[in-house]
Amino acid sequence: MLDETLGGLRVIKAFNAEKLLQNKFSKTNNELYTIRNAMQYRRDLASPLSEFLGVVVLCGILWFGGKLVLAGNAAGLEPEGFIMYVGIFTQIINPAKSLSTSFYNIQKGSAAISRIEEILQAPVKVDPNESGLTLSSFNDCIEFKNVSFMYEHKLILNNINFKILKGKSIALVGSSGAGKSTLADLIPRFHDVSEGELLIDGVNIKEYSLHSVRSKMGIVTQEPILFNDTISNNIALGVENASIVQIENAAKVANAHNFIRQKERSYQTNVGDRGSKLSGGERQRLTIARAVLKNPPILILDEATSSLDTESERLVQDAINNMMQNRTSIVIAHRLSTIRHADEIIVLQKGEIAERGTHDELLSKGGIYKRLVDMQEVR
Ligand SMILES: Nc1ncnc2c1ncn2[C@@H]1O[C@H](COP(=O)(O)OP(=O)(O)OP(=O)(O)O)[C@@H](O)[C@H]1O
Ligand SMILES: [Mg+2]
Repeated sequence: MLDETLGGLRVIKAFNAEKLLQNKFSKTNNELYTIRNAMQYRRDLASPLSEFLGVVVLCGILWFGGKLVLAGNAAGLEPEGFIMYVGIFTQIINPAKSLSTSFYNIQKGSAAISRIEEILQAPVKVDPNESGLTLSSFNDCIEFKNVSFMYEHKLILNNINFKILKGKSIALVGSSGAGKSTLADLIPRFHDVSEGELLIDGVNIKEYSLHSVRSKMGIVTQEPILFNDTISNNIALGVENASIVQIENAAKVANAHNFIRQKERSYQTNVGDRGSKLSGGERQRLTIARAVLKNPPILILDEATSSLDTESERLVQDAINNMMQNRTSIVIAHRLSTIRHADEIIVLQKGEIAERGTHDELLSKGGIYKRLVDMQEVR
């Protein structure tokens, strides 16, 4: 909750929601306080209570036993024996007390264990298949064969069939929520298909080791994800021993070099939490540079240039087009001008393929795609 609140501080202030969140925080805090208090109360009570009871019982024995022994009424029990008996009895009180403490600890431990078990026993949704085949090189095609996908019980993708040949680029377009990002997420196996098969070079993707599959892909996600670190470390994420020259070249390709140079400490500038010290377009260019540096055979670009102005977009798009040559790419874009040169355009609608073809084919067909293009044309 803290993390979310601090991260969304700007929105909270803008919507005058400080009070609301303060109350929410107080409530959670109070709950924690009550639970802890009740726990400590019982725990701290255990020690004086057991001592008190011990003393009471001891007093009782001393009084009653003493009376019997002194009056000579205790059949067969001599005073020496009685004293020894009392001595041994007092020795037992302490171990008995620690028994109650350990009972408390056992309870605490078992509560903790059940929470840890919940995590350890969670079903593995995507099996990394470490002993599987190694995808050493991508040679032929990625194929979606009757692929369906559900989140929980909601069908998001329905019976998708298409092939992406090596070196070709496929564009996914469609309205918001149509399932484009979900479809792209299936390729690096962020989710596994619910039905059907996803094949790389004719082999089911699940048979390859997850690591080798992901090592062949570069992804620019819809939301730029940066870490609180320097610009150069953010670009070099996942690429070991990247030289500064390589990093700079990647930044140049992504049209980021110029703005980085103007920063106070250039490539060593810290980007702040989640990249908060950069503008939206700057963040996006860093994530593109990251994909460029990784230099993967398969590229997935989810709205990679959506935060850029038209001029930068054109520059970055040129760079991306260069990068896409001899590479297989899956591009998602709302701005249709950026994908008109794709080898195939797939129009998704409510999780199904509504239309497919090249830009010209779809235009002459006069369907959904044409309507989208017409709407975007600025006159
Ligand atoms: N983690 C999730 N759990 C349940 N449903 C989800 C989840 N993520 C997305 N969805 C739903 O799946 C559908 C498709 O989402 P997806 O992100 O693929 O859309 P999209 O086509 O990429 O849209 P956009 O253009 O807005 O990015 C949406 O209806 C969304 O609400
Ligand atoms: Mg999306």
